Amino acid sequence: MSKQFDVVVIGGGPGGYIAAIRAAQLGFNVACIDEWKNDKGGPAPGGTCTNVGCIPSKALLQSSEHFEQANHHFPDHGISTGTVKMDVAKMVARKDAVVKQNNDGILYLLKKNKVSFFHGRGSFVKAAEGGGYEIKVAGATEETVVGKQVILATGSNARALPGTPFDEVNVLSNDGALRIGATPKKLGLIGSGVIGLEMGSVWRRLGAEVTILEGLPTFLGAVDEQIAKEAKKAFDKQGLKIELGVKVGDIKVGKKGVNVSYTNSKGEAVELAVDKLIVSIGRVPNTIGLNAEGVGLQLDERGAIVVDGDCKTNLPGVWAVGDVVRGPMLAHKAEEEGVAVAERIAGQHGHVNFNTVPWVIYTSPEIAWVGRTEQQLKADGVKYKAGTFPFLANGRARALGDTTGMVKFLADATTDEILGVHIVGPMASELISEAVVAMEFRASAEDIARICHAHPSLSEATKEAALAVDKRTLNF
Ligand code: FAD
Ligand code: NAI
Repeated sequence: MSKQFDVVVIGGGPGGYIAAIRAAQLGFNVACIDEWKNDKGGPAPGGTCTNVGCIPSKALLQSSEHFEQANHHFPDHGISTGTVKMDVAKMVARKDAVVKQNNDGILYLLKKNKVSFFHGRGSFVKAAEGGGYEIKVAGATEETVVGKQVILATGSNARALPGTPFDEVNVLSNDGALRIGATPKKLGLIGSGVIGLEMGSVWRRLGAEVTILEGLPTFLGAVDEQIAKEAKKAFDKQGLKIELGVKVGDIKVGKKGVNVSYTNSKGEAVELAVDKLIVSIGRVPNTIGLNAEGVGLQLDERGAIVVDGDCKTNLPGVWAVGDVVRGPMLAHKAEEEGVAVAERIAGQHGHVNFNTVPWVIYTSPEIAWVGRTEQQLKADGVKYKAGTFPFLANGRARALGDTTGMVKFLADATTDEILGVHIVGPMASELISEAVVAMEFRASAEDIARICHAHPSLSEATKEAALAVDKRTLNF
């Protein structure tokens, strides 16, 4: 007799494990199936985010930023350190320990919430008699479970360049990029998106000569133009070489490294020899091994599971969330969808506001935004007012010694409602939350301008940018 569950979740990343916990909180009997293995073959829930994404990349960004600070900025504070050395193996081991803490934490949370965890690959068998679906779990052993409701949260995989598969030695996906054992002399990256910039920053700080090749002529096209320009200026100054408008041609992988032929924006043929090549050109939804076709689960032309606004698939009682469906591939978006689906299964009104999903790029300076950019507002024909405030005029930023960038507000010209907030600068990842809250409550720029912000704090730049919308900054 198969084990019966109210809810079976396939995938234990941020979409899946959070959906499982929320469903259990709502009183359901829940199973969560995840196949990720740690280096000993044991369970490692948390998905891409925990194992080869958000968490390990931020660990390496932190370590490399400390190194950068010690090398280049400590002397400004009167601290002399002598020669600063980086033990890359130790940095990577620390990152692995951080990942393990998160894996263990998720296993603990699942247990605490009485979610039954299955380690193995989940795949559809067939519709179960009496409703729901039979799901086979293929792990160390094989068993079948039945879920009255099924939530698919199978995530995404790195997209490879056609004809150049990842070998994770010379040609690296995000996985290999997070396991490089020694600083390469020359590092190439294809794609100056989020991963390209974050990983490029890590290895540049550690001493690699980094070249990022980007196909599009515009830098960070989804980011507000003024903010992207400011960020590019900072990256140029740091020596992160970003070539825009290139066409990547042949890639030859040899024993000692990789040779990339490309045409630059002037139409010239260029050869780039690098020790390692990271390919970060986007990700593809993952439905490998689910047996989607066996049960008639509808996928779109990109391979994403087709869902409606409530994350319902075409199969009754089957839902899908996170990277495997439409929308931004972000951990917090996956989590919000996971919670909303669990609540909808319980008959509640799950809520995800796509207009207030924040984005953060964890470079230095950090880039963070929520809502529409100036170019989007122009394209949408919306009349708006803009206000900016530079960190150069913020006392806390000066004390920190990090005055790059600005906060920018975009507000409706008539109603003053905040339509977008864009930040490039120190701790933008934390500062953006205030803007998200404000937009969720449909606040006006004046609302933020009238709120008391602690002094001295970076958040005063947010208040001042809101004041700038009405052309009445106090400190600039
Ligand atoms: P995933 O996290 O991919 O989890 C899916 C899980 O399902 C995996 O464990 C997989 O093994 C399992 N699985 C798949 N198929 C099956 C099956 N058939 N049976 C059993 N298990 C299965 N996002 C942010 O918001 N902030 C960041 O800072 C950030 N940094 C990132 C850095 C990198 C380098 C990368 C690659 C991504 C980053 N992301 C970041 C994106 C983020 O990781 C994803 O958006 C997020 O992990 C998606 O969550 P998910 O639950 O949909 O899928
Ligand atoms: P991305 O979509 O951010 O960037 C890909 C870049 O590659 C784009 O600029 C694109 O124009 C370029 N490109 C595509 N094909 C190309 C080609 N053939 N030649 C040259 N350039 C090419 O994708 P990325 O960086 O791989 O990251 C995947 C996703 O993971 C992100 O979109 C994001 O959703 C998530 N992520 C989020 C992070 C965060 O929130 N801080 C960090 C890292 C990843």
